[in-house]
Amino acid sequence: MDSIIVTGGTELDGRIPIAGAKNACLALMPATLLSDEPLTLTNAPRLSDIKTMTLLLQSLGAEVTSMQGGRVLALSSHDLTSHRADYDIVRKMRASNLVLGPLLARAGHAVVSLPGGCAIGARPMDLHIEGLTALGAEIELRDGYLHAVAPRGLKGAVIEQRFASVGATENIVMAATLAKGTTVLRNAAREPEIVDLVQCLRAMGARIEGEGTTEIRVEGVDRLHGATHAVVADRIELGTYMIAPAIAGGSVELIGGRRDLLPAFCEKLEETGVEITETNSGLKVARVNGRSHAVDVKTEVFPGFPTDLQAQMMALLCTADGVSVLEETIFENRFMHAPELMRMGANIEVHGGHATVTGVDRLRGAPVMATDLRASVSLILAGLAAEGETVVNRVYHLDRGYERVEEKLSACGARIERVKGE
Ligand code: UD1
Repeated sequence: MDSIIVTGGTELDGRIPIAGAKNACLALMPATLLSDEPLTLTNAPRLSDIKTMTLLLQSLGAEVTSMQGGRVLALSSHDLTSHRADYDIVRKMRASNLVLGPLLARAGHAVVSLPGGCAIGARPMDLHIEGLTALGAEIELRDGYLHAVAPRGLKGAVIEQRFASVGATENIVMAATLAKGTTVLRNAAREPEIVDLVQCLRAMGARIEGEGTTEIRVEGVDRLHGATHAVVADRIELGTYMIAPAIAGGSVELIGGRRDLLPAFCEKLEETGVEITETNSGLKVARVNGRSHAVDVKTEVFPGFPTDLQAQMMALLCTADGVSVLEETIFENRFMHAPELMRMGANIEVHGGHATVTGVDRLRGAPVMATDLRASVSLILAGLAAEGETVVNRVYHLDRGYERVEEKLSACGARIERVKGE
């Protein structure tokens, strides 16, 4: 397995292009199942999770052709041959469950494996099941699989989510596009990836209003048609690389970056002593004083501080001036990066959903292990600030969500390289 070696202590200076959003693309790809006409996605990211979704869709009979080195995905679900998402694929990537709503709506039945536990929490599917059941589906759990049928077709309904789940909102909205009548989804997730999905569904002929607010209204139509859609910029990749100059010093321009994708995050980053300016091509981030200030952070649904940037922010706060408290409210087990950061000399105490970080003068390089996608990149960021060499092992997690991380950072002067493993 590959490792990444980072030698800390170099200030950054350069430009980093931000790719299309992994999480948007993983919801947009299953939208192909809703139509027998082609769907083309441009600005797709080149990531292993996208390959996993490609394999899943192909296993259902969809055609997925990757063009321009993976930047453009041509999808067609003219003839579906299966309606079963196998455990072998779903266990690798929870977002595989996003085929459930579209398959039900188009084929009237779907069999989708439950994802099982993952490193960052239990992540059940009760909200997906409740929403689709409200639309008239009958869903049973047998042999670890959800067996869903809609014998009389799906029918619009008023649904109030107990929690604004991103995935459940996506499944329910996709299913509702082909349901009979009107669906009103209350307490809907508002993440930019939902807005992107709705814009694509609308280009396919769906009638949807309210994306980006807590109430989404869908008028069902008989069929959807083909479309071409450009994937929105990846706000998590953006936030990650905004932290790079904050932690290492220097300044970096993020090409394609937009402040409205990360409102709460940008405010917190500024509080730590970083300057963020809008440029013609994106956002520029520069560290304006010597040491970061401590700040308290609480993860929340959009527009709050994203859970997917909590590990990276923790890496920054490890060397801040003072004590920071990070509160994780979205996932119950998302501080696995803390013990690894402590191996680099960080002072962190974790109690349940809170982590207290007392800033130290300096981190020291160490061999560390990545336990999940965002944890891996937080260790790379910490390595940029650490004295000496940090070896991040098990980087396959990283390749699920970050394109060419070592190339993007070394283009800004970071000393970082990938060492090929067995
Ligand atoms: C998506 C993102 C992920 C991000 C998360 C929260 C994708 C592919 N992934 O994941 O990167 O960290 O949003 O911003 O877009 N929950 C339930 N029941 C359900 C569904 C969810 O209890 O039926 C809980 C989960 O266990 C978790 C919380 O709700 O604690 C958030 O989950 P959700 O918003 O659904 O996240 P995902 O769509 O899985």
